[in-house]
Parts: sequence; C-alpha cells; structure tokens
Amino acid sequence: MGNDMKTATVRVQRFNPDVDKKPYLDTFQVSLENNPTLLDALQLIKTTIDGSVTFRKSCRHAICGSCAMNVNGRNLLVCHQPLRKHLNNKGEVTIKPLPYLPIIKDLVVDRTAFWEQYLRVKPWLVPPPDIPEKEFRVTPEEVAALHNAETCIMCGACYSACSVVGMTKEYIGPHALLKSFLRVIDPRDTILTERLTDVSQGDGVARCHTIFNCIDACPKGLDPTRAIETLRHLSRKRQALEKERQERQKTLVMEEAKR
Ligand code: F3S
Ligand code: FES
Repeated sequence: MGNDMKTATVRVQRFNPDVDKKPYLDTFQVSLENNPTLLDALQLIKTTIDGSVTFRKSCRHAICGSCAMNVNGRNLLVCHQPLRKHLNNKGEVTIKPLPYLPIIKDLVVDRTAFWEQYLRVKPWLVPPPDIPEKEFRVTPEEVAALHNAETCIMCGACYSACSVVGMTKEYIGPHALLKSFLRVIDPRDTILTERLTDVSQGDGVARCHTIFNCIDACPKGLDPTRAIETLRHLSRKRQALEKERQERQKTLVMEEAKR
C-alpha cells in the first residue's frame, strides 16, 4: 500500500441477533491522519459515522485483553496495532469477532466457555499451611520459568484460534492449560497431583493436536503448546513430583527460618 494513502476502507462484521439472520460486512472510510490504531479506527467509526457499531475495549495498552478480534483472518489486540500495517494494496482491512465463540453483537463475543474452562483448572495458588512470615525464597530460574506463563492477559486470542475449540467446547483450551502449567511449576503450590490428574482427563492435554495456532495468536509471545507438552510429560511422573515438591516446600520454610 502506498504511504501517500489518505483514507482506509474498514470492513466490519455486523450482527444484531434481534434483527439479522446472519452476519454481514459493513464498510466505512476512515482517515489515516495521525496514524490511527485499529481500535482508533473503530472508535472513530462509532463516534462519527455509526454509533451502533459494538465492540469491547478498555485499557488501550494491550493490558486488559478485552479488544481481541480477528483482523484479516488473524486474532490480535486491535489497540496495539496500527491500521496502516493491516491494509492490503487496495487500502482495505476486515475486522471480525473472535472465531468459534457465539456472537452477542457485532464484534462482541460470549466468553462463557472460555471462563468456565479457566475456572475448571483452579487458576489460583494453593499454598502450604506453613506459610513463612516473610516470603517464600524462589530461585531466579524458577521465577524465569513462571514468567513465561504469568504474563498472559486472558484476551482469548489463543483459545479462539484453536480449531479443537472450534470442534468442542469441552476442551480445556490453551489459555487454561497455560495457567495450570503456571501453578504446577510454582514451587509454592500444594495441589500438584490434583492439577496434573485433572489436565490428564479426556478433555485436557490429550485433546491438543499441536496445531500451533495458539502460539501464532498470542499477542504476548507466549507458548501454550510448550506448556501443554510439559504438562503431558509431568503428568506421567506426578507421584514422584509430589514428593519432590513437599521436600522443596519444607526447604522454602526452613530457608526463611534461618534468615
Ligand atoms: Fe490448539 Fe494450540 Fe494445541 S492451537 S490444538 S492448543 S497447539
Ligand atoms: Fe485493553 Fe486492548 S483495550 S488490551
């Protein structure tokens, strides 16, 4: 696309379940002045052309995860992407809601299945009863391992890019398995065996066909596939791991007592 282009054609998928039989594309012209992001373009459409265009957004800084959408066939955070970057040589871009999820209206999808699967893996930390008065000592290597999964913002881009999710909402999904991985490798967590048993059930890690769409879709550059692979591997030796974990936790508390 020539850099001298002054306007872009933004095609937005519309669907109002009260009046429409099926989704359709609506077309809007948006100025490229001031180099807007995709979210700026949607906001401009809403405030100056058609106030009924519906989408989610909040932070505008790729932190809250609410603006994940499908742009030219790829899931991404629209607040974090310049509109110009996504235009084809005719100056067009197509914005649709996240795939495989029921549409509430226009670009807003129903994330119920996403959150239900998330809660299913008990995403919270379950600490041991002997909590040190100050803090658990965790090695820099352990912190680095945790960091990979910890920066997930729950935007749903990976979940709705996975074709297994497209086939069945029973699958736990890459977002929840990544969270489960985070808790499993956290040396402070005490329900390791339970977690590994849960993800080894039929709708857990076995459902992942290593399609890799989740990696491509993640706006934070995380690797759910590797986390799923690690969970598979750890599940096979969960009893030995549980013993190791209990020993490690005693050390965590003892280290604190010595200080
Ligand atoms: Fe789906 Fe990612 Fe596995 S796209 S099949 S969770 S590798
Ligand atoms: Fe929060 Fe885009 S608006 S991540």
